[in-house]
Amino acid sequence: MRWIADSIKNSPPSVLDKLLNIASEYKDVISLAIGEPDLDTPAHIIDAGTEALKTKYTHYTSNFGFLGLREAIAEKLDKENHVNVDPRDEIMVTCGAGTSIDLFMRAVLDPRDEVLVQDPGYFNYIYVGAFLNTKIVPIHVKEENGFSLNPEDLEEKITEKTKLLIINSPANPTGSVIPEKNLKKIADIVIENDILVLTDEIYEKLIYGEKHFSIASIPEMKERCVLINGFSKAYAMTGWRVGYAAGNKEIIHAMGVIGAYTSICAPAVSQKAALAALKGNQDCVEEMRREYDKRRLYIIERLNEIGIPTVMPTGAFYAFPNISQYGSSEKVWKLFLEKANVSSTPGTAFGKYGEGYLRFSYANSLKNIEKALDNIEKVIKNV
Ligand SMILES: Cc1ncc(COP(=O)(O)O)c(C=O)c1O
Repeated sequence: MRWIADSIKNSPPSVLDKLLNIASEYKDVISLAIGEPDLDTPAHIIDAGTEALKTKYTHYTSNFGFLGLREAIAEKLDKENHVNVDPRDEIMVTCGAGTSIDLFMRAVLDPRDEVLVQDPGYFNYIYVGAFLNTKIVPIHVKEENGFSLNPEDLEEKITEKTKLLIINSPANPTGSVIPEKNLKKIADIVIENDILVLTDEIYEKLIYGEKHFSIASIPEMKERCVLINGFSKAYAMTGWRVGYAAGNKEIIHAMGVIGAYTSICAPAVSQKAALAALKGNQDCVEEMRREYDKRRLYIIERLNEIGIPTVMPTGAFYAFPNISQYGSSEKVWKLFLEKANVSSTPGTAFGKYGEGYLRFSYANSLKNIEKALDNIEKVIKNV
């Protein structure tokens, strides 16, 4: 460790790395651990990527992404999300939404700053915050609220050092959605306290029985908000690595400066494929959403039936069962891995309030999910 920077050494130990190593030693496990679509990238998108290769669209693009793609993103944001941004200087295309998160946090945070995040919540925010020596302040999103961020709980955590609130709806790992009325309350709170917002809407298209609302569409939020989205989840394009950030012009500019000296641009070929995703028929998105919805209903009903209380999520492709009656997250994670041949993710990978839960991804076939639950049912009958 002698060569490693303090900011990396002092960041929280990665639970996930350790557990993935353990899990890799088990053969023939059914994986409910992976947070990526099991479905394939739709054919017309693959064709557009292939065509880009054949026509030698294989060079650097602008480090904000090529303008045609930014224009298509601006059109999408306007039409679907009522978010108005100028494609010339208020959008940056990045290597996945993950890179947008990293560039954004590096562009706005100083070591003295406090950052509010949902807990349990997506771990990238915690780690990038730690790499930057900022203080990550968890807001407990409670099971009794369906794990949805409660504006009053957020208000309690604000101090004079709070600079940034990160919201993620629909959320990883809980599948919770923050309703429009609460997002409006949150907007009032952040405006009153002069706080910046990062809204990560990567699971926007995977929503069940609710309508997605973006906090960035509230006109007063424009100067204090950056929206992040991407192609990984909606179009099953995780490996293509395309995402984007849109909003406050100065922040997008600063992200571009950092991006110029790191990844330079998102892969050119992938940007063409992403353009085809936005411009093409959207039936593929709805077909995938329906498939996940079937699995969602099955997995939640079945978990509750076998005695593992699980909130019905309204977004993403995750179930977040409460397994506390059987032991700690890590203990039950190991039990299911060893005895039921099912891999999952312990809730503690997503923050301290994840203790007592597991995350099951239902981005796996219904047949595999059924088998996994049959195995788990047998195991819990004997504990
Ligand atoms: C909440 C959230 N944001 C961002 C990402 C990163 O997505 P991308 O593949 O676009 O980098 C993920 C991936 O799992 C996620 O769950």
